[in-house]
Amino acid sequence: MKIKKICVLGGTGFVGRHLTTRLANRGYSLRVLTRHPQRHREVAVLPGAELVEADVHNPAVLPDQFRGCDAVINLVGVLHEYSSQRFGAVHAELPGKVVDACRATGIKRLLHMSALGADAAKGPSQYLSTKGSGEQAVMAARDLAVTCFKPSIIFGPDDNFYNQFATLLKLSPILPVACPNSRFAPVYVEDVAQAFETALENDATIGHRYELCGPKVYAFKELVENVARMLGLKRLVVGLPDGLARLQGKIMGALPIKIFSTDNYLSLQVDSVCSRNGLAELGITPHSVESIMPMHFAAKRQRRRYDALRQTAGRA
Ligand SMILES: NC(=O)c1ccc[n+]([C@@H]2O[C@H](COP(=O)([O-])OP(=O)(O)OC[C@H]3O[C@@H](n4cnc5c(N)ncnc54)[C@H](OP(=O)(O)O)[C@@H]3O)[C@@H](O)[C@H]2O)c1
Repeated sequence: MKIKKICVLGGTGFVGRHLTTRLANRGYSLRVLTRHPQRHREVAVLPGAELVEADVHNPAVLPDQFRGCDAVINLVGVLHEYSSQRFGAVHAELPGKVVDACRATGIKRLLHMSALGADAAKGPSQYLSTKGSGEQAVMAARDLAVTCFKPSIIFGPDDNFYNQFATLLKLSPILPVACPNSRFAPVYVEDVAQAFETALENDATIGHRYELCGPKVYAFKELVENVARMLGLKRLVVGLPDGLARLQGKIMGALPIKIFSTDNYLSLQVDSVCSRNGLAELGITPHSVESIMPMHFAAKRQRRRYDALRQTAGRA
């Protein structure tokens, strides 16, 4: 299946930025759909890429945007629910609309981003159960050529997860962590992007789901302690007992800006580790957190020092 032009949904996010850059550099033409084109000019300037403002939830919009493309990649996902964005609409209904629009426009190839632990029936949180429904909807489309990806937590220099903990650790000598024993196998964003690229170029991946994990498994508390170590900070990371973790989700979930919620707490009730690492099946050697993030944190530190020096020099 020769793919030249790809329509990408969710191509402006953390994973999307890495994937679109990689695909543009490989010579693919891209049409990236977004709600906020003015916020994502870095995507618009990629070679062969067009950034298009579109309401992807409107079924009348998708076929127009898919026309002229050979494949679709759907990366759209949210970690928190707001009144304007419901898990069901984003994770479960949108994939169905994408399948319908592929059929309407004759596009066969679809790459779909799910999540490790996504399960329509057994997912303990709304995030995981709706992700599971979306995955079911695309994998059931046997008339299309679908590949699905299920990563553990994804890390990279511009991620939310590691950078958020880095900020919290810098602010406080003690950090409480919910569900300290939940396990993750953080996977590098470029390895995830490479998995998508490999799938696009290899028809043997059609009809398969790939779990994506990094080389090492960490308990949540250990993972946060590792961030402190990489930052060179001495911090006390305290695992919260279950009742307090649940309460933390409830209280923080009620705040207007969410960084943790009851749904996140429920997601943490299952480990995010691979039963079989799809990266190996795709011939990709996973990068470790320790080989990527210390360099990034050091570069950030240097940039801050440089900015402070410039400010001091400016005042003198
Ligand atoms: N990051 C991780 O650790 C991780 C782990 C496992 C699975 N995943 C999955 O990987 C995918 C990408 O994650 P990410 O970290 O790159 O997410 P992200 O940085 O938050 O980006 C989300 C993308 O989805 C779009 N989007 C968000 N809410 C939307 C809505 N209500 N309607 C339409 N579009 C919306 C955004 O586009 P605009 O704002 O430009 O419209 C953006 O491009 C998601 O499906 C996520 O569930 C991520």
